[in-house]
Amino acid sequence: MKKTVSDNIGAFYQHYPRVAVVVTASAGGRDNAMSIAWHTSISKNPPLYGVSVSPNHFTYKLIAQSKQFGVNFMPDTKAELVAALGGSKGSQIDKFSAFSITRDDAVKTSVPILKDAYAAFECRLVDDRLYGDHKLLVGEVVAVHYLDEAFMENGVLDIEKVNPTLYLGGEIYLNTEECRTRTLNRGFCVDCFKT
Ligand SMILES: Cc1cc2nc3c(=O)[nH]c(=O)nc-3n(C[C@H](O)[C@H](O)[C@H](O)COP(=O)(O)O)c2cc1C
Repeated sequence: MKKTVSDNIGAFYQHYPRVAVVVTASAGGRDNAMSIAWHTSISKNPPLYGVSVSPNHFTYKLIAQSKQFGVNFMPDTKAELVAALGGSKGSQIDKFSAFSITRDDAVKTSVPILKDAYAAFECRLVDDRLYGDHKLLVGEVVAVHYLDEAFMENGVLDIEKVNPTLYLGGEIYLNTEECRTRTLNRGFCVDCFKT
């Protein structure tokens, strides 16, 4: 089988699929949420989590101001919302009202926690560093919210119960339960979420 070797990295999708999550933040009376595919656990003790966010995004400005962020793990059934949050700008709309997003109470921070998330982290910012065109924001996880029924006794996600939102790149999402992909262009219409 032929492999191509190139120094042209191209779309940079070779490491996908990735779990797409929703990063949330709140500052100065404004709440916001955006989708990201670039995120990772960094340390177990203390529990540190990293998210890669462009400094041009409204969400970054709220995080820089409040020194807090939330990471919300969404089920595949909410992939349309993930696409919509990744295609709209908090500087232009209130996404919580536009997409009828409901929330759970945060316990250690003031970050918005999405009710639809099967798990979420509340993080306090411990580092903010520019790498190329993105900021690597490292947060200490100070509280975790999770849906009991989504996890087995050993803490592992039970994919019989919940499928995470898996992003393949190029606006394509992968559902492993049904072995199918679907294209959800970001910029999903706001009206789709009106109840
Ligand atoms: C599936 C998906 C993954 C994304 N991954 C990232 C990411 O890792 N980092 C990032 O800065 N933007 C990422 N984006 C783009 C932002 O979500 C998008 O620019 C958003 O509109 C920013 O929102 P804001 O301006 O309200 O902060 C992603 C978008 C989608 C749909």
